[in-house]
Amino acid sequence: MFTVGIITVSDRASAGEYEDHGGPALRAACQERNWEVQAEAVVPDDLERIRKTIRAFSAQGCGLILTTGGTGIAERDVTPEAIRGIMRVEIPGFGETMRMRSLEITPNAILSRSLAAVVDSSLVIALPGKPSGAVECLGFVEGAIPHSVKLARKEPTSC
Ligand code: MTE
Repeated sequence: MFTVGIITVSDRASAGEYEDHGGPALRAACQERNWEVQAEAVVPDDLERIRKTIRAFSAQGCGLILTTGGTGIAERDVTPEAIRGIMRVEIPGFGETMRMRSLEITPNAILSRSLAAVVDSSLVIALPGKPSGAVECLGFVEGAIPHSVKLARKEPTSC
């Protein structure tokens, strides 16, 4: 199995201006799936802070790193750019699936630039910031996660 790192990306939550609900919602979703959450952080919408935290979680051994927030089109939304600057490869099917399935729930899903990528030896999935949206999107792609994590970790796979 694999361990999980969860990163909430939000200027206001990291400044303590409001409580982080996205991180706890994802932690609960991981626990329901019996995935061990190894590391958690709340960081501002800052390219370098996001990159540093992803790399630190990967170095700690998190096979799966979930981010929530900063995938939209607001001026400070830079999570996709942060990930693309350090990834080895993007996996477009994750973003396509998350948007396609989410559009059945809300037309605003089209605004999320959610994505997945391999960074160092981790699978990184950037989820939207709304807690229910993050959990929904995780559910839409969870079937492909174990195999993708194995490949990111260069572990043997059956196919
Ligand atoms: N996807 C799902 N499944 N459910 C949602 O409620 N919200 C959307 C979208 N994706 C949403 C969703 C909205 S309103 C926005 S603005 C974008 O995600 C980007 O959110 P973010 O900038 O907080 O990451």
